Amino acid sequence: MSAVPTSASVGVPPRNMVFDHEGAEKRYPFYDGNALASLMFVVFSGIFPPGERFFVDSVRAFRDRIEDPVLKAQVSGFIGQEALHGREHDRLNQAFAARGIAVEVPERYVRWSLRQLKRLPRRQQLACTLFMEHFTAHLAERWLKDERFKATSEPEMMKLWLWHALEELEHKAVAYDVFEAVGGTWGERAAAGALVVGVLLPGVLASWGVLLAKEGQAGDLRGNLRGLGHLFGRQGFLTGVIRRMPDFFGRRFHPRRHDTAALEAEWREILFGAEGRLNAEFRNREALAAAAA
Ligand SMILES: [Fe+2]
Ligand SMILES: [Fe+2]
Repeated sequence: MSAVPTSASVGVPPRNMVFDHEGAEKRYPFYDGNALASLMFVVFSGIFPPGERFFVDSVRAFRDRIEDPVLKAQVSGFIGQEALHGREHDRLNQAFAARGIAVEVPERYVRWSLRQLKRLPRRQQLACTLFMEHFTAHLAERWLKDERFKATSEPEMMKLWLWHALEELEHKAVAYDVFEAVGGTWGERAAAGALVVGVLLPGVLASWGVLLAKEGQAGDLRGNLRGLGHLFGRQGFLTGVIRRMPDFFGRRFHPRRHDTAALEAEWREILFGAEGRLNAEFRNREALAAAAA
């Protein structure tokens, strides 16, 4: 490890990935050929760029108060990773929009919701970020582990989800550690869960319904039931995420208590090892390797 820790040397390297979104519109519906399930991921892609900007702002507000050099470097990595996720999701969203998918509906709604959260005290905003990062970390785990998702999803689209998933796990504790370092309380954490669910969830679900209707799929009962099963069934993609949400309210909660280090190492190798699946899209590989040395 270098004398001065860098984001790469502390395990949060912001990988500059440039994906080929050309033709993304032809690849829709990209999840098991199912509109309802695919549109959930369109919703996620729509809300990520404004969401990630909110996360970055809420952490950056406390950056100057962090003294630990390792945490400082992790914060830089967190900001870099989230900024690059936002950029690639923005590019993907443009491809969706070109195909006529109304990705701006969830995006606009979430921007409005986040403006409401921005009225809160800064540490409360950071607590909201923790809850959303908790959700994203479990979403990421499903992206890496859900066999049906991996087997039935369109391969080009998977590249973006897998990269994003790995980095969400790599930085999942950063905002939390900043919150603890600046004296965040359990009460702020508990309130954050209620605020995020209350302010964001209804509109996110509503915009999903709007997308379905705009795609002319609302009446496809059989297809929609199958999609709902994929997401919320016993082994559903989101069932596994929702099940982990209450962990956040435990007094002794810490993101790293749910250990994903082995999963991260496995996927770092698959995606970015010597024969890494995403090496062709990885633009700053050498620079990060030098910074980590
Ligand atoms: Fe992200
Ligand atoms: Fe994140």
